Amino acid sequence: MFRVISMGWLPGDHETASGVSCLLEAQQAVEAGTYECAVERGGYSLAWVTLSDKGAAGKRTDESGPMIGRLMAEKLDLGCVQGFIIPDEADILKGLMVDLALEQGFDFIMTTGGTGVGPRDITPEATLAVIEKRLPGYERAMTGASLAKTPHGAISRAVAGALGQSLIVNMPGSPKAVAECLEPLLPTLKHTLEKLQGDPSDCANLHK
Ligand code: MTE
Repeated sequence: MFRVISMGWLPGDHETASGVSCLLEAQQAVEAGTYECAVERGGYSLAWVTLSDKGAAGKRTDESGPMIGRLMAEKLDLGCVQGFIIPDEADILKGLMVDLALEQGFDFIMTTGGTGVGPRDITPEATLAVIEKRLPGYERAMTGASLAKTPHGAISRAVAGALGQSLIVNMPGSPKAVAECLEPLLPTLKHTLEKLQGDPSDCANLHK
């Protein structure tokens, strides 16, 4: 799933050319906190998930998922994009989101479709069932941007939040709605993810 760019490791127990035990060096490095051990991924990873009974049955070509990938790639260093088209089934979506977040470790999981009030619209409920921290600001930003374009923006019940170290965002199903909802979020996605993944830096200086 991920490209390994570089790896560092602690040396095993053998003697270096200078006659010093590598294991001793390693222990000292650990105690001093000076060793480098970084497994890096090549850019952020995105999984988009389109909720569409017709799309999953091959009866409709859905553009909104790929569009999320294109729009995010313009602003973020995306190293991995994977797309899924699934029927509007809550158990399938919940299982997929949990796997993508906790097993596969995707940074961003963006869903499209199923946020309305139709009989088969289950995306917000499924998302609420799995997220650990809700992001109401994301939801308001999407609603605000949507209402600036169309009164129908009020119909979407899109939810956003975090599961593990993944950011999950629902968006409505049409490509137009995806573009409108993603726009206000793009500037904050990177910082949100950094914070979610443990960045301890002080935000007080962010806007100076
Ligand atoms: N939001 C934006 N920004 N632009 C849109 O065109 N369409 C609305 C709404 N949100 C729309 C939007 C419509 S018509 C519906 S029915 C709801 O999203 C739910 O869409 P979904 O069921 O495809 O998720």
